[in-house]
Amino acid sequence: MITVALIGTGGIGSAIARRLASGGEVLRLSSADKESATRLAAQIGRTAVVAVDNRDALRGADAVVLALRFPVLKSVIDEIGEPMADKVVVVPSNPVGVDAQGNVSRLLPDEQSSGEVVAGWLPAGARLAMAFGSMSADRFESSSNRSPEPAVLFYASDDDRAGEEVERLIRAAGFDPLKVGGIEESGRFEVGGDLHDLVVGLAEARPLIGGA
Ligand SMILES: NC(=O)c1ccc[n+]([C@@H]2O[C@H](COP(=O)([O-])OP(=O)(O)OC[C@H]3O[C@@H](n4cnc5c(N)ncnc54)[C@H](OP(=O)(O)O)[C@@H]3O)[C@@H](O)[C@H]2O)c1
Repeated sequence: MITVALIGTGGIGSAIARRLASGGEVLRLSSADKESATRLAAQIGRTAVVAVDNRDALRGADAVVLALRFPVLKSVIDEIGEPMADKVVVVPSNPVGVDAQGNVSRLLPDEQSSGEVVAGWLPAGARLAMAFGSMSADRFESSSNRSPEPAVLFYASDDDRAGEEVERLIRAAGFDPLKVGGIEESGRFEVGGDLHDLVVGLAEARPLIGGA
């Protein structure tokens, strides 16, 4: 059975985990202190287990979702290191920080996407797809399995296997996948991009991305 590692079980990570589990995926969860991962695993049931640590989450997994705030992403990538090579790495992180007062600020220049920066942090051989961060967690959960026309989740990748796997995961979560382009295009659906927070079906989404 295919297992998905999911590191970070906060706002978006827990929503992704619930949607993937309801689509039949088996999950290995990890978080900073295990408390939120343990609570989430209990909520999901038999198809989610809590890993011993971030590295252990990847055991037996083809894909890992890093549902982490941008400022901690690099340290977790460095901590896991080599086991990430040849895995599909799915990242929903937007390049924003939140201060103690809850104020949100952009952490990268406007023209630089989270995807481009994360690609440079990954070990050689890791297969990156940026996805699952294009809308708020509430909107993501309420839009899944929309009927009659499923809502679209945009993704970006330079890697064919990552593209296939992320499409499978997006469908499992109850959406139609739509590739926007290579990693350099992920800024279009990150915070501040023209496709961010859109809930549209394929017919409406295709002309928006242009040329695909
Ligand atoms: N929330 C949204 O609506 C939303 C929507 C789209 C995209 N995003 C993006 O998704 C990313 C995550 O956002 P979020 O709102 O889910 O953040 P969050 O609620 O703060 O959750 C962050 C998670 O990361 C875990 N974590 C922190 N340090 C870790 C470490 N060293 N090892 C393992 N896990 C660690 C935390 O563990 P603990 O639970 O143990 O503290 C927590 O589960 C951000 O980049 C954000 O821009 C968020």
